[in-house]
Amino acid sequence: EKGGHEYFMLKEIEEQPEALANTLRGHFTEGRIVLDEQRMSDQDLRDVDKVFVVACGSAYHSGLVAKYAIEHWTRLPVEVELASEFRYRDPVLDRDTLVVAVSQSGETADTLEAVRHAREQKARVLAVCNTNGAQIPRESDAVLYTHAGPEIGVASTKAFLAQIAANYLVGLALAQARGTKYPDEVAREFHELEAMPQAVQQVLGTIDQVRDLGRRLSDSRAVLFLGRHVGFPVALEGALKLKELAYMHAEGFAAGELKHGPIALIEEGLPVVVIMPSPKGRAVLHSKLVSNISEIQARGARTIVIAEEGDETVRPFADELIEVPAVPTLLQPLVSTVPLQVLAAEIARSRGYDVDKPRNLAKSVTVE
Ligand code: M6R
Repeated sequence: EKGGHEYFMLKEIEEQPEALANTLRGHFTEGRIVLDEQRMSDQDLRDVDKVFVVACGSAYHSGLVAKYAIEHWTRLPVEVELASEFRYRDPVLDRDTLVVAVSQSGETADTLEAVRHAREQKARVLAVCNTNGAQIPRESDAVLYTHAGPEIGVASTKAFLAQIAANYLVGLALAQARGTKYPDEVAREFHELEAMPQAVQQVLGTIDQVRDLGRRLSDSRAVLFLGRHVGFPVALEGALKLKELAYMHAEGFAAGELKHGPIALIEEGLPVVVIMPSPKGRAVLHSKLVSNISEIQARGARTIVIAEEGDETVRPFADELIEVPAVPTLLQPLVSTVPLQVLAAEIARSRGYDVDKPRNLAKSVTVE
């Protein structure tokens, strides 16, 4: 069942190129982005003037990633919120608000209640879900299925990458409906997404290097993760994986916040994982992160850097360098997350923990 793997999570990590390809398949036909189910009119989609993404855990992180793309492509304001907070607030919603509910299982209690809360106030709900016919898609006005296949490991991997891809399709569908992108631009963005399974396949080539690193880090007490722009939610996701699998204190920070507090945590030997932006795509952010790494390295941190291949400027500051292929900025999370999944799994395995069934956690959280 595990296809010769020691645990499901590693198999599921390796299935990510396929999960992405399957999620994208069929969603660009006759030059247009199409959803799976749409029980709302095209005019309703055109009228959307605000987007909320509501979700929990990794699904929430997929929304944080997508915010950068959806705002850029559609010029709509996007708020990403934990479902468990959203449902108890009094968010400003009306019939022109689109609430995107992201859930692998489609049964997460807080996300389902957030959907109900939104619909009571006449907002339209679009579900991004990995489970056909689950409750959340059943109660939504539109659905986009992620076709990651069944995910057995409690830690989300292939479903997370598929959620990012599906959220991007939602962004492109909105840009197309609103005319904020010309059809040829929508087509170009879609084709860039279509190239991602191959890029992720290439990152899988780093698995042995990252597993070796994981073994060497297994007795660390804590690990910090730093990123900026789309690399920030990747840092949060890397920290969540490590908490849930290795029971280790892990935190993700926006690198720009370092001087506002977190830098005080840096001490001799503390592993800090840094997710670098491309030196070409975001040159300003890249140079800011290079100076962050040099600062933390000077204070004794053990720097583990995820960087674009050929990024030589970062090499002198990287105690460990993990190279990922060059991809467009907004798509970087699809490659940079993969080594963080492997790292968490290997640290957990080295500590003797059950990678697929971490303590205290359930695959689908149907209680509140
Ligand atoms: O089924 P859902 O996508 O609604 O689940 C949401 C979270 O419970 C889930 O992503 C959780 O955080 C994972 N264990 C993270 O790896």
